[in-house]
Amino acid sequence: MASNFRIPFIDLFTDSKRELLRGTLARIEETVTKSQFILGDAVSEFERDFAKLSGTTHAVAVNSGLDALILSLRAVGIGKGDEVITAPNSFIATAAAIALVGAKPVFADVGEDFNLDPSKLEAAMTAKTRAIMPVHLTGNPCRMEQIRDVADAFRVKIIEDAAQAVGAAYDDVPAGALGLMGAFSLHPLKNLHAWGDGGIITTNSQELADNLKLQRNHGLKNRDEVEFYSYNSRLDSIQAVVALQHLKLLDETTDQRRAHAHLYDERLGDLGEHIKIPMREKRVKHVFHVYQLRAKNRDALKAYLAEQGIETKVHYPIPIHWQKASAYLGYKKGDFPVCDRLAGEILSLPVRENLKDDEIDFICDAVRKFYRVAKAA
Ligand SMILES: Cc1ncc(COP(=O)(O)O)c(C=O)c1O
Repeated sequence: MASNFRIPFIDLFTDSKRELLRGTLARIEETVTKSQFILGDAVSEFERDFAKLSGTTHAVAVNSGLDALILSLRAVGIGKGDEVITAPNSFIATAAAIALVGAKPVFADVGEDFNLDPSKLEAAMTAKTRAIMPVHLTGNPCRMEQIRDVADAFRVKIIEDAAQAVGAAYDDVPAGALGLMGAFSLHPLKNLHAWGDGGIITTNSQELADNLKLQRNHGLKNRDEVEFYSYNSRLDSIQAVVALQHLKLLDETTDQRRAHAHLYDERLGDLGEHIKIPMREKRVKHVFHVYQLRAKNRDALKAYLAEQGIETKVHYPIPIHWQKASAYLGYKKGDFPVCDRLAGEILSLPVRENLKDDEIDFICDAVRKFYRVAKAA
């Protein structure tokens, strides 16, 4: 029987955000009255605060997560004839960025943590490999120590796709400071976001930061002199204001998401044969951009939860190497057995910061009802 209870997966604006809205609008008014529409104070302030959060000396704001990846690859000269190893279960932009700079995306399988499996990297290396692009999927940092060992052994660079991982950390080192550069997205669905598109790149290299600033602004060294032909990929000043205001709430948002995830782990952890919760690594700070688990009869569970008013998602049902866009790379289903299997098992439950405890109870009860497993006494 369908329920009247509705638990949307995403609920971006609730009353608790009214104060944030007022503060943001006031700061936008200030930006507009100063006519600072392009770069200016808000962008610099956001870059400074974001670098601090990421434990890096520099952050360069751009106009999307995709551009953050593209500009990072270009900053180290990756292009035609080069290969970059990444995960096949990411959002399409990861592979697209590699392809769009003219390089070849090379996939390696993932592990049971849903992230790049470090033991699969070596087999993917060729003489053309220039970088590894680990994706901290769902906000869960990759096993960076082992990835770094392989990168060092093969003398290739690490460019993090940290689009989903703002505030995450591995061994207390923040995402964005775990490689040479870290690329983040400020898309409205991300834990830290703007009211439109945006992205930011972190690095400890002055030279790379200088290059990225030129790349995002037509290659302009100053008003009149151009170092090289380039894009316009600046973060809008108004979006920088929005992101800056949201940054103040990030710790709270992260704590709420982590607390929700903890509740799910606790309440669904005994459903062993039906629900598999990924192992929680102690050295990792997971920020739960998405709360993902593996579910037996996933599609039937998803449909049942929808009937109960619970919206769930799959991130992502079609791995990148199955996509038509990737056909030219010559991969086939079965090439990455873990990734291919996970595509049919993974399910994302709502974990947004404004979720209520009784909603989590309702979701957990519904999952138990589906599998006909009573609550432990
Ligand atoms: C893993 C990953 N990489 C890259 C991107 C691209 O970010 P954007 O949508 O801001 O271009 C996203 C998000 O959309 C993402 O989730």
